[in-house]
Amino acid sequence: MSYELIQVEIQGAVGLIRLHRPDAMNALSVALINEVGVALQALEQDEAIGAIVLSGGEKVFAAGADLKEMQSKAFTELYLTDFPQLPGSGWERLERRRKPVIAAVSGYALGGGCEMAMACDFILASNTARFGQPEISVGTLPGAGGTQRLARAVGKAKAMEMCLTGRMMDAEEAERVGLVSRIVPVAELEAEAIKTAARIAAMSRPIAMMVKESVDQAFESGLSAGLMFERRAFASSFSFEDRTEGMAAFAEKRRPEFKHR
Ligand code: CAA
Repeated sequence: MSYELIQVEIQGAVGLIRLHRPDAMNALSVALINEVGVALQALEQDEAIGAIVLSGGEKVFAAGADLKEMQSKAFTELYLTDFPQLPGSGWERLERRRKPVIAAVSGYALGGGCEMAMACDFILASNTARFGQPEISVGTLPGAGGTQRLARAVGKAKAMEMCLTGRMMDAEEAERVGLVSRIVPVAELEAEAIKTAARIAAMSRPIAMMVKESVDQAFESGLSAGLMFERRAFASSFSFEDRTEGMAAFAEKRRPEFKHR
């Protein structure tokens, strides 16, 4: 498959998807989102891939949904297609995937760009990253999870202020409030994200998937149900050969040779 609006690279057990629409600030047109979906599905199905990095350019991760494309849309079309989450769309594939995805954000991550980064499992940011939900400035509101994920990530006060004013948050503030896991110098961001993804890919894949499912559960259910989910996942990890190998390797003071990675 050849792509026009993204670039895809394989580095060992890591798949890299780079948004690449530099003439439009990586605006997330339907065509670009669909390419992301196709690439994600291919990487999900590729047994050699254990983790994925989603990055943009140095100046911009993505400046949101394509406003010029969206301008002429009407309610009926959005409603009928459940825009932007229609089944099989890139957004849906990003939400439903099972392999861990790290967002590597440099420069602007605005509107749908911020939402796309938040739909990944965690965000590594460069010192130049700027996050925002400026949809209110163009007479609409976040439509790909912004009000929900931002509120869960940074709490009501910050989320409400950002969505109501369109104010941007810089990398330092984003790290302080827990929107991003770490800040990396801009020139090192992509390499650091790939290194981090490679570290995840070297773990047992089914265990990494269970970890992801369990942390995700914290945002889906109450504490008792989440703790129960975790205990059940923990117990079922004992059915994996990789759990036997991991603990044997610890006892024998050697590195584990996980079978499923
Ligand atoms: N959609 C379409 N085109 C966009 C775009 C977008 N979201 N953002 C930037 N562009 C285009 C500009 O129109 C411009 O194109 P032309 O050269 O053809 O005029 C080009 O990219 C460069 O942009 P700027 O000249 O504006 O660059 P800048 O450096 O001065 O500003 C910016 C950068 C602050 C990101 C500014 O472009 C901006 O504010 N963009 C819009 C951000 C926004 O409102 N995003 C929310 C979109 S709605 C949404 O995302 C809904 C949802 O939840 C699903």
